[in-house]
Amino acid sequence: MTEHILITGGAGFIGSNIAATLSQRPNTEVVVVDDFSSGDWRNLIHVDCEVRAADCDDASVLQEIADGRYTAIYHEAAITDTTVMDQRLMVEVNTNAFAKILEASCKSDTRVIYASSAGTYGNSAAPNSIGSGEEPENIYGFSKLLMDRIAKRWYDKHKAPIIGLRYFNVYGCGEHHKNERDGNKTASMMLQMYDKAKAGEQLRLFKYGEQMRDFVYIRDVVGANIAGLTATQSGVCNVGSGKARTFNDIVENLGVALGTTFDVEYFDNPFSFYQMHTEADLTETKTILNWQPEWSLEKGIADYIKQLEHGHRGPQVAS
Ligand SMILES: NC(=O)c1ccc[n+]([C@@H]2O[C@H](COP(=O)([O-])OP(=O)(O)OC[C@H]3O[C@@H](n4cnc5c(N)ncnc54)[C@H](O)[C@@H]3O)[C@@H](O)[C@H]2O)c1
Repeated sequence: MTEHILITGGAGFIGSNIAATLSQRPNTEVVVVDDFSSGDWRNLIHVDCEVRAADCDDASVLQEIADGRYTAIYHEAAITDTTVMDQRLMVEVNTNAFAKILEASCKSDTRVIYASSAGTYGNSAAPNSIGSGEEPENIYGFSKLLMDRIAKRWYDKHKAPIIGLRYFNVYGCGEHHKNERDGNKTASMMLQMYDKAKAGEQLRLFKYGEQMRDFVYIRDVVGANIAGLTATQSGVCNVGSGKARTFNDIVENLGVALGTTFDVEYFDNPFSFYQMHTEADLTETKTILNWQPEWSLEKGIADYIKQLEHGHRGPQVAS
């Protein structure tokens, strides 16, 4: 039997990586719905899937979901620029649309795996655990927390699982478009530093590069999403490496991957709000998803830089 998988936001970084992997599976047809507000058609050049330009809550898409056309829905579409301050817009696009998708998926009992975010934790003390310290510091994080709350209200009514994945800082192939937006570069620090290094520019970090983040490699993020296809219960899970690493660690590993060392310039952090330490607690991730990350920062950066050095920029396929 052929599986039909819907991926909203499938032209984006994470969605296109999920699409690239799933479209390689036998008896699997992937449909991408994207409004191309931040995604990039180039991510889908080599992905065998149907591509539709539409809002993720387009009436015809919702009808298809309600009619049971899809085996599973990956909902990745969102305003992903965390500096957007328009509160109404953020909640409309990120939260309201998701509520409509759940209403439709409940009619056909279709599995939903959706993107939440570590932004729900704001600057709470690490490690970050589901159900505690959920104090977002911006409207983006709040819109994602609202999604998790809405999902929870559907758990009992929805026969198929609804699984929220709180991604931490994701890096890997397929994110180039995030550095090509006007004025605001939102790609991972790995790509930003790599681009600077290749351009012969000075690498700069906020003083003194000791800020810690849980960086998770895209291959692990795809692995967590695939695990969501067979999970048997609803819930929200963190998707991180489970380890916090410093910005200095990134520069050091970039140097190792490129066979050089970098002299970093440190400067004052201009932001009044800045996440200083994120680290995913993986308790629910293991129980609900039965999945664990496999890529350390060292391995992930080495693999990513190898792809970049070969000129690869699209999504990766599971190897
Ligand atoms: N990349 C990360 O580190 C990270 C971390 C936490 C959470 N997330 C979440 O993961 C998901 C994917 O993020 P990404 O990094 O791939 O970002 P991205 O910006 O590359 O992808 C988002 C995609 O959604 C599309 N989109 C936006 N609004 C839409 C709408 N209303 N209808 C249809 N398509 C729409 C965009 O065009 C884009 O292709 C998002 O929900 C994001 O909030 C990402």
